[in-house]
Amino acid sequence: MSGLSGKRILLIICGGIAAYKALDLVRRLREREISVRAVMTAAAHHFVTPLSVASLSGDRVFTDLFSLTDEAEIGHIELSREADLVVVAPATADLLAKMAHGLADDLASTLLLATDKKILVAPAMNLRMWLAPPTVRNVAALRSDGVIFTGPANGDMACGEYGPGRMSEPLEILAAIEAALAGDTALPLPAAYRANPLARGGAGGLEGRRVVVTSGPTHEPIDPVRYIANRSSGKQGHAIAAAARAAGAEVTLISGPVALADPPGVATIHVETARDMQQAVEAALPADIFIGAAAVADWRTPEAAPGKLKKGVAATQTLPLIENPDILAAVGRRKQDRPALVVGFAAETEQLIEHAQEKRLAKGCDLIVANNVGAGANVFGGDRNEVTLIAADGMERWPSLSKAEVAAKLVARLARKLSEAPA
Ligand code: PMT
Repeated sequence: MSGLSGKRILLIICGGIAAYKALDLVRRLREREISVRAVMTAAAHHFVTPLSVASLSGDRVFTDLFSLTDEAEIGHIELSREADLVVVAPATADLLAKMAHGLADDLASTLLLATDKKILVAPAMNLRMWLAPPTVRNVAALRSDGVIFTGPANGDMACGEYGPGRMSEPLEILAAIEAALAGDTALPLPAAYRANPLARGGAGGLEGRRVVVTSGPTHEPIDPVRYIANRSSGKQGHAIAAAARAAGAEVTLISGPVALADPPGVATIHVETARDMQQAVEAALPADIFIGAAAVADWRTPEAAPGKLKKGVAATQTLPLIENPDILAAVGRRKQDRPALVVGFAAETEQLIEHAQEKRLAKGCDLIVANNVGAGANVFGGDRNEVTLIAADGMERWPSLSKAEVAAKLVARLARKLSEAPA
């Protein structure tokens, strides 16, 4: 796993002979567990197909500004902001000119104008186009706007000439991406706009809000060496905590035993059992949002044995089990200081929607995120999740996304719901 695992790139592929190298770039990013969401300009389709890009990125490819609808799929503003870095490779003279002049007449140029993250470009064009005074002026303007350039390199052109204009090799672009991601890539709005609670500036709309998230499994001791547990890795819950932090919230993460690093900037409390987790949640409240992503063990033994149980005990004794407190239900049904949004997860192996709907009502949640954890789904411990959001006013199915993407989308949705809620 690289130190950049879980980072997100929005990759814009323009039309040029170097577009084929973008495929290798996607592959190398994915090898480093950096997720890639790709956008192709109309001209790029002449050089690579959306299918080949999608099969490498593992995600659909976006091409058309007007096919994006805010509710059914993803709005262009969200698309431009959910990534940690926007990369244009190859960047044509035409796109650089549009960027330099603030044009927004297609999806790629609109995203580049709307993004709140740094932009890195890898130009590729004929050397006369690169050296032409308008391009020189545009590049200077973009550099002074803070756009990061990698290349172009000198070399033989597809047209037979020699000089600057060849796109950097994928490994060079990767190194530039890694260097950019090592720093802060957010471009916050001026303070006057950030102060507006409805502004989605900075990284995203939860400034001044408190969010409490549970994550991972709980371990319920049987004796000093054995415990009841489940397969949760904490990846989904931790990604949600990180996304809420990136959106500007003050986040408390209450984590069961996991092998993950604490997300930067998130106050992380480590617990073992369901009862520890419940205590920590109660202590962390009040909050604006509570998200129960932990796989809390439903049962425990009434009392852990003080010494290691002997091997033969199973032959003579059954293990008594009692129910653990339901943390989510206790938060959802609070009479005082109930968070404005209480969000649960439902892990189901059958009748996903029906069972999730029942859980939403039984536990007093505003929203429940249903995920199918049946055999083969690889959700517990895996890197992707395919979820359905269920609220009182309907449901919405999301495609298979990385857990970081689910987290970013969920947090963006909650920030919007919170900003729309009556004060
Ligand atoms: O951790 P990962 O490997 O990334 O996997 C993610 C996940 C599958 C664990 C996550 O997406 C998920 O589904 N989490 C909830 C798992 C679960 O316990 O589901 P449930 O249907 O049993 O519980 C429903 C809800 O009640 C959950 O929000 C749970 O946190 C909560 N609960 C359950 C029991 C209990 N005693 N207290 C609770 O708060």
